Amino acid sequence: MQADTLLLQRRSCGRLTDPAPSAEQLDLLYRAALRAPDHGALAPFRFVEISGEGRATLGRLMAASLKSRAPGTSNETLAAVSQKPLTAPLIIAVIARVERTERIPRQEQVITAGCAAHAMLYAAYAQDLGAFWRTGDYATDPLVRGAFELKPMDELVGFIYLGTPATEPRPPVALEPADFIEYWS
Ligand SMILES: Cc1cc2nc3c(=O)[nH]c(=O)nc-3n(C[C@H](O)[C@H](O)[C@H](O)COP(=O)(O)O)c2cc1C
Repeated sequence: MQADTLLLQRRSCGRLTDPAPSAEQLDLLYRAALRAPDHGALAPFRFVEISGEGRATLGRLMAASLKSRAPGTSNETLAAVSQKPLTAPLIIAVIARVERTERIPRQEQVITAGCAAHAMLYAAYAQDLGAFWRTGDYATDPLVRGAFELKPMDELVGFIYLGTPATEPRPPVALEPADFIEYWS
């Protein structure tokens, strides 16, 4: 794939199916993630691969999280939420692991983990995999944070849903650079 195709055409894919990424494809995803810009070379991230029964565990966790935040949620909604992780053969939780902030601010380390997640999306697209970055209120919920053993300064930057695209990629949203640029000269 040409670099400009990758950079300009990448899209998320919300409809995913089997097969999951192969070991070789996953290896490229992780190697791309580890190339994220990283002030101080702290490697402030870790990844949790969620597949098979682990997805049902995540689904139960998400439903419990929603119920704790919104006790009036209907059983139908809770059941639907618990099914969400089963819509992808593999999910990778990307966690910013922030241990020390004397030299490099926490925000920079969280951004590095976000860049790692973004690199995974590119590596997925480059290999014709489908990928979708999800967070929602789950990522900051104490129940979920606890289940993923986050320390106080850590951040769950996202769940990357991965699989084989079940739909053709949509055309990218057309934004014009000129609408976002100001000039200091
Ligand atoms: C940190 C982060 C969290 C996100 N969380 C969600 C989410 O929970 N649900 C959702 O529908 N989209 C979420 N998105 C957006 C999608 O992953 C996706 O980027 C968006 O739908 C635009 O599609 P595109 O990547 O094809 O341009 C999130 C994006 C980021 C960067």
